[in-house]
Amino acid sequence: MNKYELIDGKQIAKDIKHELAHEVSEMLDSGKRAPHLAAIIVGEDGASLSYVASKEKQSKETGFFSSVYRLPANTSEEELLQMVEFLNTDSEVDGYIVQLPLPEHINEQTIINAISPKKDVDGFNPVNVGRMSLGLSSFIPATPLGIKLLLERSGVETQGKHCVVVGRSNIVGTPVAILLSRNEASANCTVTLCHSKTENLKEICLTADILIVAIGKPAFITEDMVKDGAVVIDVGIHRIADNSEKGYHIIGDVDFEKVKAKCSKITPVPGGVGPMTIACLLYNTMKAYKSKFQNNE
Ligand code: GUN
Repeated sequence: MNKYELIDGKQIAKDIKHELAHEVSEMLDSGKRAPHLAAIIVGEDGASLSYVASKEKQSKETGFFSSVYRLPANTSEEELLQMVEFLNTDSEVDGYIVQLPLPEHINEQTIINAISPKKDVDGFNPVNVGRMSLGLSSFIPATPLGIKLLLERSGVETQGKHCVVVGRSNIVGTPVAILLSRNEASANCTVTLCHSKTENLKEICLTADILIVAIGKPAFITEDMVKDGAVVIDVGIHRIADNSEKGYHIIGDVDFEKVKAKCSKITPVPGGVGPMTIACLLYNTMKAYKSKFQNNE
């Protein structure tokens, strides 16, 4: 059994927000306004409502302006596009997100395409995805950026290492695979991107120095799939019903209790990747704010 180390996402996210809060207070001292992050949410999806509420709370705690536009579930695509256009042109808003998923009658890609790339702090617009792929300055989606910062701040060597990513979503798997393969500090991995059709998944996972799991299946990665001494990053979040007072507990895509003994480092769930997402959204909003003032817009 390895003496594994926990990667403390809660603490690292706290450090990042503390650094941002310090920057905001310096801006205020020099007479500038605080950065402003907005969010649009359509409908009443429980997970989305709680994410947006946390975003609002943490924005305010970090000294940012935060605004939330709550639209009913029957909002039309046209009405949502009008709201997107309104935020694109509102000079008081530095960055914003449209919370996903959207109701079925709205085409998500149409909405994402309409978000101004300069305010797209989620990094989902094709302009930002393309720029990231080319290694140009861009907004990097919050969870992939959070994973990169977790590796960096917990001293994980990435250069030349084999990183296996399990899951190819547009929000996590695909962008993190691109990001960690770039010729940059805290990247330079050799990346293998696995998905639901991958053959020999277990054998590939067993070759991973860094295993990033974002497949959306509870406790999917078992100890026989992990190389001795690997670094494991678990992006999954699943509510499992139980008899506790709360009525549930949270687990990830990795069978943590069994896998931890194989690892040199591992993220817990909760308290690993999750807390990094909002910290990185705020980081991107600060970047949007600064580039706006640098460009004198
Ligand atoms: N839904 C789940 N994760 C995300 C995210 O990172 N951004 C947005 N906009 N919606 C999400």
